[in-house]
Amino acid sequence: MLDEIRRELGDCQRCNLCSTRKNLVFGSGNPRAELVFVGEGPGENEDLQGVPFVGAAGDLLTKMIGAMGYRRDDVYICNVVKCRPPGNRNPEPEEVAACEPFLRAQLAAIQPKVVVALGKFAAQTLLRDSTPITRLRGNWRTYEGIQLMPTFHPAYLLRSPAEKRKAWEDLQAVMKVLGKQPGS
Ligand code: URA
Repeated sequence: MLDEIRRELGDCQRCNLCSTRKNLVFGSGNPRAELVFVGEGPGENEDLQGVPFVGAAGDLLTKMIGAMGYRRDDVYICNVVKCRPPGNRNPEPEEVAACEPFLRAQLAAIQPKVVVALGKFAAQTLLRDSTPITRLRGNWRTYEGIQLMPTFHPAYLLRSPAEKRKAWEDLQAVMKVLGKQPGS
C-alpha cells in the first residue's frame, strides 16, 4: 500500500516546491508501525538525503523515540509536505493542500494505534483545527478513528529546551496507551 502511494506521487509536480527540491521525502520506517510521527516538512539535510528527520531536529526525535522504548525502525516517520520549502519557510496553504491527501493515504495504509503530531503544522493540518499548538499539545484527539497526540516539534524544543518536560509528558501519555516502558 505505501509503495502504491509512493508510485502515485511519482516525480511529483503538484506544487511549486518541486522546482527547488533535491529529493522528495516520502517517509521512512515500519509500514506496520503502531506509532507514527508526523512532522512539518523536510529541511536541508532531509532534502539532500531523501529521508525525514535526519538533521539536528531528527537527532532529538531519534532520542525521543529511544526514550519511549522504541527503535527508529519500529515506528514510521513522515511529514505534512514531502518537499523542502526553500530556506525552511513555512509551507504555503496550497502546498499543504496538494500534499495532504498523500499523508492521509499513508496513515490510512499504516493504520497505527497512535499518531504523534509534531508541531502546529502537523496537528492543525490533520485535525483541521487552528488552535495554537500550545493549547493543542498534551490533549488526546481522534483522527479518522486513530488516537492522535499533538506535541511540540523537536526543532522548537531545540530552541526552547525548557519545554522538553512538557513534550516528555505528552510522550509518556502515548507510552501508557501503547503499554511501553521507557528505553535507555
Ligand atoms: N523538520 C520536519 O518537520 N521534518 C523533517 O523531516 C525534518 C525537520
